[in-house]
Amino acid sequence: MGLFETVVIALWAMLPAYVPNNAAVLAGGGRPIDGGRTWNGQRLLGDGKTLRGTAVGILAGAALAVALNAVAPAVADLLGADLPTFPLAVVLALPAGAMLGDILASFLKRRTGRERGTAFPGLDQLDFVVVSLLLAFLAAPDWFAEVFTLPVLAVVVVATPLLHLTTNGIAYQLGFKDEPY
Ligand code: CTP
Ligand code: MG
Repeated sequence: MGLFETVVIALWAMLPAYVPNNAAVLAGGGRPIDGGRTWNGQRLLGDGKTLRGTAVGILAGAALAVALNAVAPAVADLLGADLPTFPLAVVLALPAGAMLGDILASFLKRRTGRERGTAFPGLDQLDFVVVSLLLAFLAAPDWFAEVFTLPVLAVVVVATPLLHLTTNGIAYQLGFKDEPY
């Protein structure tokens, strides 16, 4: 498989995990998941993790996966790349894993004394990748092994932080986000 096809497949397969964070930024607000509870004087998760943001994020990622399944044959023809379609379990696992990874990262940030909105380089850019891949693997191991070959995984690890910083920078410039990371 050439580099172009590897990159196309990596981005295609990860799109349902990329979109939830951005949808959550746009939809966030309302009741925090932790209901304001604290642990050792720090919030459990903080006001940046809300029920509405999480629900809208998962729904947006799942809806995108379904839409990608519908257009996969046409786009595959156009690009000459063998694009994967998402089994139902993966339609949910990728976006749910992305939101869960982000929530776990906030949990870790609060335990290490970081206030809401502080940067945690590395964690901020890859938390959602690790957990979405893990849930996708658990949901459909054979599909996962077929799609996420080592070269595809390598592209995901390199491209995701770049994409994440770019989209968050744009969201910050447009005033949707308080910090550019
Ligand atoms: N958001 C949300 N629910 C989520 C994730 C994000 O409502 N599960 C919204 C919140 O409005 C949040 C914004 O998206 O403020 C940006 O997300 P993020 O950078 O992950 O949160 P922070 O506010 O920076 O908080 P933290 O330090 O916990 O990451
Ligand atoms: Mg943040």
